[in-house]
Amino acid sequence: MDESRLNPIAERAFRVAARAPSAHNTQPWRPAVVRLSPLTVRVAVDPARTLPLADPLHMDTLLGMGCWTEAFSIACAEAGARARLTAVTGAGPQTVLTLEVTDTGAADPGRAVRESSDREAAVSGSAAFRSAEVHARQVDRGRLEPDDTALADALAEFSALTELSAPLPAVPRPAEDRSSPVPPAVLLAQIPEPLWARLNGRAALHIAQTPAMLRETLDWLRLDPADPRWAEDGLTADCLRLPRWEAAMLRRLLESGLGRELTGGAEHWQPPLARVLGGLRQRLPGPRSAPARLVLGTRASDSAAGVSAQDWVVLGRSLLRLWLVLARHGLKVSVQSELKDSPASAALLAGLLGERGVDAGAPRSRAHTRGEAPVPFAVFSVGRSTGPVPRSHRLTRPAERAPARAPERR
Ligand SMILES: Cc1cc2nc3c(=O)[nH]c(=O)nc-3n(C[C@H](O)[C@H](O)[C@H](O)COP(=O)(O)O)c2cc1C
Repeated sequence: MDESRLNPIAERAFRVAARAPSAHNTQPWRPAVVRLSPLTVRVAVDPARTLPLADPLHMDTLLGMGCWTEAFSIACAEAGARARLTAVTGAGPQTVLTLEVTDTGAADPGRAVRESSDREAAVSGSAAFRSAEVHARQVDRGRLEPDDTALADALAEFSALTELSAPLPAVPRPAEDRSSPVPPAVLLAQIPEPLWARLNGRAALHIAQTPAMLRETLDWLRLDPADPRWAEDGLTADCLRLPRWEAAMLRRLLESGLGRELTGGAEHWQPPLARVLGGLRQRLPGPRSAPARLVLGTRASDSAAGVSAQDWVVLGRSLLRLWLVLARHGLKVSVQSELKDSPASAALLAGLLGERGVDAGAPRSRAHTRGEAPVPFAVFSVGRSTGPVPRSHRLTRPAERAPARAPERR
């Protein structure tokens, strides 16, 4: 193995993976090179970059870790290396991923996968993508136009990719772990527009259930371009499509006594806010011009709490793959996680997945076993952007390195 070749590959892959999406743009990953031969990367969760109140099961954090893993694997595959997720230990904010990067000896082995339908060439599904696609993908919270043909083509490509490649293998588990060794199921359903409106009604104020929960979200808003964190993480006013003057007003409101009262006594202002939001929603595009609404789910025996950290990571990889395939067809997504986080709307989505969900992870997904029920894990609109999309920012901290002369012993 040529370490000198792998090091720059990993360096570049860290930069590509940093563009992975994450809830509130928290970027919860903390990668470190812990061994040089074989090149081993350990990715921990930064607990300060989790959302314990809005995301108590750490589902979104771990999905984001999966997106990072997928983006890292894509960059490695493009450069002729293979990143293999060899272990997922711990749970929640203590989850640690281990990846081994090995040389495949081929420059750009993904080319064959991208340019032909050669099953033999499909060594790894990550090889079907390019780093440039990871860079170009964006969430678009502006108006999205429906494009049913592009969506159908993208979903067909996603399902062919899942079938064609042998990606996302189950990670080897410790002997005492009796959970299923096969990858988790990925169910997909389109949400009819009237149901979408009902879900919104039920989930609109989910993140403002308690003052502390609202503050947790507000902490990730970047309303002031002069804020040093504006160019690092969180959701900028631009990405949220708030005009700068509105962002300045909101900022002043939140900093004022009134703002403190708002975040200190949600029960007083929730009912009027719900009425305002309800009114606004009636002015939103009706079913005819609305983009498609999709829900992704998996199956679990004990609601979302029954899904292992490892399965969330694997599902996060599928999520990024789907968003990349959609982007390839000119489609962007706008995510609304509160619809799967709010128990009232999650129950409706689980029902929809049970009735109409198609197995997007077939044929390798875990077969439906008795007692397992659908659990929604991602909800988003899909359509064509109607204008330029502001770019989200990322932290630029480098990955930690193993000492060059004293690699960790195996
Ligand atoms: C698991 C997950 C959940 C997300 N939930 C939401 C959400 O509820 N609302 C939203 O506007 N964006 C959501 N996003 C999108 C992120 O905010 C977005 O990826 C991040 O701000 C970076 O922007 P970019 O994807 O355009 O690079 C989510 C992303 C992930 C991976």
